[in-house]
Amino acid sequence: MPFFLAGREHEQEVLVRMMGELRRGKAPAHDAAIQGPRGVGKTALLNWAKREGMKTAIRGARDIRAVLLPAFALKTLPKLFRATLGKNVVTGSTRAVETGAGLGLGATHMGGKRVTTATYDGMDEAEWVEALVQSCQNKPLMLLVDEAHTLDLEVGTALLNASQAVRDEAPFMLVLAGTPLLARHLGRMDSSFWSRLDEGDMPVGLLRRLAAMDAIRKPLDTGGVQVDRDALDDIVDDAGCYPYFLQMWGRHALRTLDDDETRLTLAHVERARPVVQQLRNRYYAERWREIVKLQVPQAAAALAGVCSDGARSITRDMAIDSLTEGLALDSARMSADDALENLRLLGYVAEGDSDGSIAAGIPSLMAYVRRRAAASVQS
Ligand SMILES: Nc1ncnc2c1ncn2[C@@H]1O[C@H](COP(=O)(O)OP(=O)(O)OP(=O)(O)O)[C@@H](O)[C@H]1O
Ligand SMILES: [Mg+2]
Repeated sequence: MPFFLAGREHEQEVLVRMMGELRRGKAPAHDAAIQGPRGVGKTALLNWAKREGMKTAIRGARDIRAVLLPAFALKTLPKLFRATLGKNVVTGSTRAVETGAGLGLGATHMGGKRVTTATYDGMDEAEWVEALVQSCQNKPLMLLVDEAHTLDLEVGTALLNASQAVRDEAPFMLVLAGTPLLARHLGRMDSSFWSRLDEGDMPVGLLRRLAAMDAIRKPLDTGGVQVDRDALDDIVDDAGCYPYFLQMWGRHALRTLDDDETRLTLAHVERARPVVQQLRNRYYAERWREIVKLQVPQAAAALAGVCSDGARSITRDMAIDSLTEGLALDSARMSADDALENLRLLGYVAEGDSDGSIAAGIPSLMAYVRRRAAASVQS
């Protein structure tokens, strides 16, 4: 199925604006952080940003170097240095020549600048920042780091510090994406990171219904397939606006079409349903195991009860009351506040539509958890 990024217009707008500054040779005033539960489309958004960044510049603007990496590719400082500087360090100062020499590497002259091919093992952070400034002046860099909630502490700290220092002098842009663990993880490296983000703070969650419909309709349309309205409603109801389930539905519904068919009907949806349900149950089972490991299955089920199967958001007080009730049946010695926080970090609950309210991370998962929890009480 061809890909279409639905319902992320706001995030796209912010990122395009930041990239626009890079193309004008300026650094955006802040970093960006995309935080959201698994499967909502953080990686999809980063992939889009990279493609956007790699587009050739128009009207005198500058080309960008767009680098997208998962945090595990940046496990050590030398790896971070290499990823951000590339194979060649272009430098202009004699200081940098020493850097090259210090790295014990071959260096050649190119238009008065010195180009060194480096391994970065001997480089220190200050030298890296200096080289990064020069490299970004030469070509603006947009660095996109996925799974940033797993960034090594030393590497992450160096990266956050460098971002501030380099942005003062050269066009550099940093975008981090991660699960709800991201804020806490980055807080360990730099306590005021989040407060400086400004519009770069981009929480992502379930799609709105119209966007969810687009997520199915538009890519099929690109492939020359029209979707019947009742088939579309059925898919979106079933997937609950959760991108991961939507793409699962789209992929499997499309597979039920014969080569010469160009209309997706309810009959196709019915044909795809068993395999989608099977895959989804496997996914639910995995999430259930996480909740059981936390030792809060009954609390999670009680919370699902007041979310009325996930369809609406509830007040924090309602959430705490239901969790307290459920915790009485669980083996965890944990306060309701801690249970709520842990369930939020798992993505089981998310922020609701009004301030401080709580909503289901994946609505249909809540019904599943209630069933499993009821069964485990009986057995
Ligand atoms: N806005 C969107 N429109 C259409 N499809 C989307 C959208 N966002 C994500 N998807 C699809 O949903 C699936 C899950 O998205 P993705 O892998 O980007 O989520 P994620 O937030 O990175 O999850 P994880 O935390 O597990 O890495 C992918 O198949 C992706 O193509
Ligand atoms: Mg991802």
